[in-house]
Amino acid sequence: MTSHLTIVTHPLVQHKLSLMRDKSTPTGEFRRLLHEISQLLAYEVTRDLPMTTRRIETPLCEIDAPVLAGRKPVLVSILRAGNGLLDGVLELIPSARVGFVGLYRDEATLEPVQYYFKVPPGLSERTVIVLDPMLATGNSSVAAIDLLKRAGAKEIRMMCLLAAPEGVERMAKAHPDVPIVTAAVDECLNDHGYIVPGLGDAGDRMFGTK
Ligand code: URA
Repeated sequence: MTSHLTIVTHPLVQHKLSLMRDKSTPTGEFRRLLHEISQLLAYEVTRDLPMTTRRIETPLCEIDAPVLAGRKPVLVSILRAGNGLLDGVLELIPSARVGFVGLYRDEATLEPVQYYFKVPPGLSERTVIVLDPMLATGNSSVAAIDLLKRAGAKEIRMMCLLAAPEGVERMAKAHPDVPIVTAAVDECLNDHGYIVPGLGDAGDRMFGTK
């Protein structure tokens, strides 16, 4: 991808995002909207995947038909909210491989600490798409991408629903090679690290926890 940040301004994305921001939107509806938006964002984040051709025979003639090139992409969900984006993208790329990164915040140091890391083999030869709906401080995204690069990933891109300017900036500094696709960049973070105006805690809203 050429630009570091792509904001998907498509009317369907923006309409669904507004419904998700509304605090009166119930859990099931929130989850369904996230699933739908994930597919529209996936369209953008995969726009420039490498292509090749395969010789096929239509009922009328032979052609060199365009198909995806190379090894299957990897979707990496940053637990737990990343799972809200995963199923929708998998429906579009059913043969994708899937990895998971689990991080929690050490309350003393405020640094992200890894508690789970499982990714498919051959990361260095695959496009890796990191899924995390909320790019807030950027701490967990930066840490997850650090881990993925250490595991061999070279071609990484990130898909989120909402970003804060602070998170975008942090990612641009730490991982300028990783393009970000998002539905919106909001105003700021509040003192608790929430995106404002945002939509609240994405994990709580999609899973009905509090
Ligand atoms: N994570 C969330 O779920 N919401 C925010 O606003 C920030 C981080």
